[in-house]
Amino acid sequence: MSSFREDLLRGQVALVTGGGSGIGAGIAAALAGHGARVAICGRTQAKLDAVAEGIVAAGGECLALAADVRRPEALAAVTAAIEARWGQLDVLVNGAAGNFLAPAAALSANGFGTVVDIDLKGTFNACKAALPLLERRGGVVINISATLHYAGTPLQAHAASAKAGIDALTRTLAVEWGPLQIRVNAIAPGPIAGTEGMERLAPGAIRERMTAQIPLRRFGTIAEIAEAVLFMVSPASAYMTGAVVVVDGGQWLTGTNFVGLFG
Ligand code: HXC
Repeated sequence: MSSFREDLLRGQVALVTGGGSGIGAGIAAALAGHGARVAICGRTQAKLDAVAEGIVAAGGECLALAADVRRPEALAAVTAAIEARWGQLDVLVNGAAGNFLAPAAALSANGFGTVVDIDLKGTFNACKAALPLLERRGGVVINISATLHYAGTPLQAHAASAKAGIDALTRTLAVEWGPLQIRVNAIAPGPIAGTEGMERLAPGAIRERMTAQIPLRRFGTIAEIAEAVLFMVSPASAYMTGAVVVVDGGQWLTGTNFVGLFG
């Protein structure tokens, strides 16, 4: 059950990158469930189609467009399709991300660069592609960050660096695009159940030990991240820009580096 009115986003159009699975798919469904027409992009058309089918079955509108955020021209095609279909764009959620556990010593230049390309440069690429539509009516960008870079998280040199860059990009774009009435904020999820990220970073037995270190003593849910997004695209946050909102059950405050449980 959402805390927000069903018609919160009526009349608005949203694009969610990484919308084919996990947190991105949950955000797309929540935006559609609150009245937005939603486009999703990702690399795998079949995954996107499955998410779109669910949104349409629930009474929403969804455009499922295969695009790799590493390719600016693919994102230009996505925003062109959105303009052709709906003639506007109000909300961009940058959810596309890639990750794996690897010590820096074993990480190739391409391994490091691939994650930076998807997470950081992909976020930049999508922001750039969306700008011509967003600036027409004003709008909101939400970048999905992380808390990995608040401490020296082992095995995450690539992802922590990329997410730190996303926070920096969020602040700079908030300043540059504020006068265009485009708010740019970020959400930093902690450990969220049912995501590919947790499958990759916290398989099996490690989860119990992780849970014991989270002040709220549980993993978060995709729905809880979606609720934070709804707040941050709603008028309730109209004066918020350049903020990075942590939604992690207090995990990072404890100073425990849950990925480091592997080390
Ligand atoms: C070391 C690795 C590796 C691993 C890949 N690489 N996996 N290096 N350990 N486990 C290296 C490869 O060897 C290669 O370098 C380079 O990375 C690119 O790999 P490719 O497989 O060619 O790349 P690609 O097919 O584009 O796949 C990208 C990916 C993949 C990031 C590597 O994992 C992916 O597609 N992930 C998308 C889904 C995902 O990860 N979701 C979880 C996000 S979690 P060389 O030198 O050999 O060419 C998240 C949450 C963070 O972001 C915060 C949590 C709290």
